[in-house]
Amino acid sequence: MGCIMNKDIEKILFSSEEISVAVKCLGEKLTRDYMEKTPVFICILKGATVFFSDLVRAVSLPAQIDFLRARSYGMSHKSSGVVEIVKDIETDIEGKDIILVEDIIDSGETLSCLGKVLRERKPNSLKIVTLVDKKIKRECAVAPDYKCFDVEDEFIVGYGLDYAENYRTLPYIGVLKRALYS
Ligand code: IMP
Ligand code: MG
Repeated sequence: MGCIMNKDIEKILFSSEEISVAVKCLGEKLTRDYMEKTPVFICILKGATVFFSDLVRAVSLPAQIDFLRARSYGMSHKSSGVVEIVKDIETDIEGKDIILVEDIIDSGETLSCLGKVLRERKPNSLKIVTLVDKKIKRECAVAPDYKCFDVEDEFIVGYGLDYAENYRTLPYIGVLKRALYS
């Protein structure tokens, strides 16, 4: 059965099977690295939700979850460097081991700002997990501690990632046809 969204995709970069393997593998790595700890996973809304829900179930440890929504002010695709927290977490993270989960790191503005804000709350540790790393576009000094995939300078959608709020529900990650956004 084909989904009507498929026609907007130039090519599939990571199939749902490949994503599933990568997420399980990352879950096992986190399970080893956080042995004896009770980490707090923080999901950055909305893009990371699909990845987040699969990842936390691939980690065999006692853990807590919380959600944060940030908004970056800027022109279209370009971040302005001003990131505002629209919905904050409800957990007191002082002394806790935080795993911040993002969908994709592009310029790095979002995570650089969020990292700063969360570190002021004195967690015991704070690590960054991203589903996708778009390294080539980096403008801030942020690097993920854990990641599943790398991409070149392509605009991708699916598995939580959107273009104008659409395509988040696709089960795979694909490159959006250029004609649809340029
Ligand atoms: P940064 O602050 O420039 O690192 O931007 C990160 C945010 O930009 C991500 O959380 C996404 O919402 C968005 N973004 C960047 N590249 C893509 C892409 O290829 N597809 C979908 N969203 C993207
Ligand atoms: Mg996002």
